[in-house]
Amino acid sequence: MDDLKIINGRVVTFQDGPVRGSHMDFPLVLENANIIIDDGYITAIDSDRPAKKTIDARGKLVIPGFIDSHTHLVFAGSREDEFEKRLKGISYQEIAREGGGILSTVRATRNADRNTLIQLAKKRLDFALSWGTTTVEIKSGYGLSTKDELKMLEVIDELKKTSHQTIVPTFLGAHEFPPDRGRDEYMNIILNEMLPEIARRKLARFIDVFCEDGVYTKEESKKILLKGRDFGLFPKIHADELASSGGSEIAEDVGAISCDHLSYPSEEGIDAMKRAGTVAVLLPATTLFLSGKSAPARKFIDEDIPVAIASDFNPGSSPVLAMPLVMSLACLLYRITPREALCAGTINAAYAVREEKRGSIEVGKKADILVCDCENENEIPYWFGFNPVRYVVKDGKVI
Ligand code: NIG
Ligand code: FE
Repeated sequence: MDDLKIINGRVVTFQDGPVRGSHMDFPLVLENANIIIDDGYITAIDSDRPAKKTIDARGKLVIPGFIDSHTHLVFAGSREDEFEKRLKGISYQEIAREGGGILSTVRATRNADRNTLIQLAKKRLDFALSWGTTTVEIKSGYGLSTKDELKMLEVIDELKKTSHQTIVPTFLGAHEFPPDRGRDEYMNIILNEMLPEIARRKLARFIDVFCEDGVYTKEESKKILLKGRDFGLFPKIHADELASSGGSEIAEDVGAISCDHLSYPSEEGIDAMKRAGTVAVLLPATTLFLSGKSAPARKFIDEDIPVAIASDFNPGSSPVLAMPLVMSLACLLYRITPREALCAGTINAAYAVREEKRGSIEVGKKADILVCDCENENEIPYWFGFNPVRYVVKDGKVI
C-alpha cells in the first residue's frame, strides 16, 4: 500500500523546468485531483488507490513546496539600528563604509559558537517551514577567515542533517573583504586555503561572490568562481545589485547557474546569461527593504531567461523568510502575475539550486507539497502577509 494520498485538491504546478517566457504564466491545473505518494516520491496523479494516510484537501489549493534559493540564514546578532539609520536617509553603502553592514554581522557571527548559530538557524528554518519553504539554500560569508567560514559551513552541514528542509550549502567567502587582511592576502586565502579545504570536506555545492562596486571586482569575481569550479563547485553571482558592476557579464565565462539581485544588468550581461542558460534569481524583499531599484523581471521573461524569486533572508537587507510575502512583493514590484511568481518560487528556483527532482508535482518527483487554505493560486500573493499554508508534506511525510 502507498504511504500517503492527498485527495480532492486543486493541484497547480508547472512541469518540465526551467520554465521560460510566456510558459511561466500557464501552470497545469487539475481540479479534484489525487496525488499518490510512496517512499518520499510522487508515484501517481489522479488515480485512486488505498494509502496508509489520507489528506482531504476539500477542493482547496495544492502546490509544490517553496524553494528559497538565496538566503544568508546562518548569522548572529541583528541590525535594527541600521534600519533606523536608513530610514533617516543614510544609505546601505555609507553604513558599510563606516564599518557597519556585513562587517557588523561578521563580528557577531565570529563571536558566536557553533551551538548558538545552530539554535538561531533552526528557529528560522522552522519559521520558514510554517510558511511552506521545503528547500533552502544557505550561504556562508559572515566569517571571512578560514576558521570562521569553515565554522559557518559546518553549521550549515549540521542543519542539513537535522532539519526538515533540504539544505543547499553555498560558500560565499567573497562576501566582503575582512578588515584584518589586505586585499591580495584575502584573495589568496580564499583561493589557496579555504577552497581546497571546503572541497576536500565537501562542505558546499555552490560558490558565490558579491560582485559589486566597492566589494569584489569583475576580475576578482571571475578568478574566484573559476577556481571554485575547478574544485567542483557550481558558480552563483551576487550581480548588479546596487549598480551595473559587471557581475552578469561574466555569467557565460564562469558558467553561472544563477545570477542574483540584477537590479542593474547591462545588455551585455543579459546576453551572457541567455547564452549560458543562467537563472535570474530576483529578490524583491531586498529591493523594498533597501528602497532600491526593481530588477527588470519582465525583460528577463521576454528574453526567455528563467526567472526565480527568493527571500535573500539576512539581517541587513532582507529580514524576511515568508515566501508567500516574497511572491506578493514580486507581483507588486515587478508587475508579474501570481502564476509567474509561483513558477519563480517553485520549479525555476529548483533549477537555481540544482534540485531538479523538486519544485513541481509530477510523477517521479520528490513529494514536497503544500495544501493551502485558499481556493486558487492567485490568492497567495493577493492576501498580502497572510499565511495560506495548512499542511506541509516534505519528502512524502506530513510535517
Ligand atoms: O544579498 N548583497 C550582499 N549580501 C546580502 C546582504 C548581506 C548583509 O547586508 O548582511 C544581500 O543583500
Ligand atoms: Fe544575498
